[in-house]
Amino acid sequence: MSTSTVIGGTRSELKSAYERDGSCALPYRFDDASVELLRRRVADISGRRRPEVVHEKDSDVVRAIHGCHEFDDVCAALVRHPMLVEIAETLIGGPVYVYQFKVNLKQAREGAAWPWHQDYAFWSEEDAMPRPDAVNFAIPLDDVHEENGPLVVIPGSHTMGLFDLPDKSADTASDWRRHVSNDLAYTVDEARAQRLIAENGTSTILGGAGSLHAFHPSIVHSSSNNRSADRRALLLITYNAVANAPANPTRPAFLVGRDTTPITGCHDERLGLLPVSDPA
Ligand code: SIN
Ligand code: MN
Repeated sequence: MSTSTVIGGTRSELKSAYERDGSCALPYRFDDASVELLRRRVADISGRRRPEVVHEKDSDVVRAIHGCHEFDDVCAALVRHPMLVEIAETLIGGPVYVYQFKVNLKQAREGAAWPWHQDYAFWSEEDAMPRPDAVNFAIPLDDVHEENGPLVVIPGSHTMGLFDLPDKSADTASDWRRHVSNDLAYTVDEARAQRLIAENGTSTILGGAGSLHAFHPSIVHSSSNNRSADRRALLLITYNAVANAPANPTRPAFLVGRDTTPITGCHDERLGLLPVSDPA
């Protein structure tokens, strides 16, 4: 097992590392004030009863909140951060829009696991996204360590296509709640995941609050239950290539962004991003 390392250097080095491994830490982090502001917005949204707020199974514990960039001004500013937009355009290779925005909260002791899966399985099968020409940015809002359910990826698995898709003839769209719960509709078989791990190892996305990481839509990944007393809130933004927008998405708009206008970077003084020279 390894932990993801920060890639410095040029944008082309960053792109090469991302294309080779399917994930990397980026050489920036949001400052403490920005993280605190985002945490406050997340706490406020989590307390609301609206479809975008999803709970753990049979529980009042909030598992995730979705689509917040559509109704919260700080989240809206975040997705327009010039550096995020620029890196997304670099990694995808053209103009981008926001496909998905979510915060997986993984509450202390109660946050449940995400089984092995590939995000692109959902986007391909449910939304008919043509190609995996998208990128996930992950921004922890809490320090992430081995015990609070970090994201674990299998390096290189993003180049191997989609695994274990259900028989299409068995039909149609699944209930979107199975795209955001512990009982995922599209998973990678455990034995297959173990074989992939034996060949490729794993990389654990650890990092302080405010750190910034990228991972590919097709990379096989999972995360375990939160066994610790520390919450692990992980904010995830998916940028998709404008040229790769699904033609007729049917899932709720808080899961599949409908506005495919190319996003342009816009600085907001409430969100400060600092360069990181030392990965530790
Ligand atoms: C997690 O929050 O640990 C899972 C995130 C994901 O599967 O995209
Ligand atoms: Mn995922």
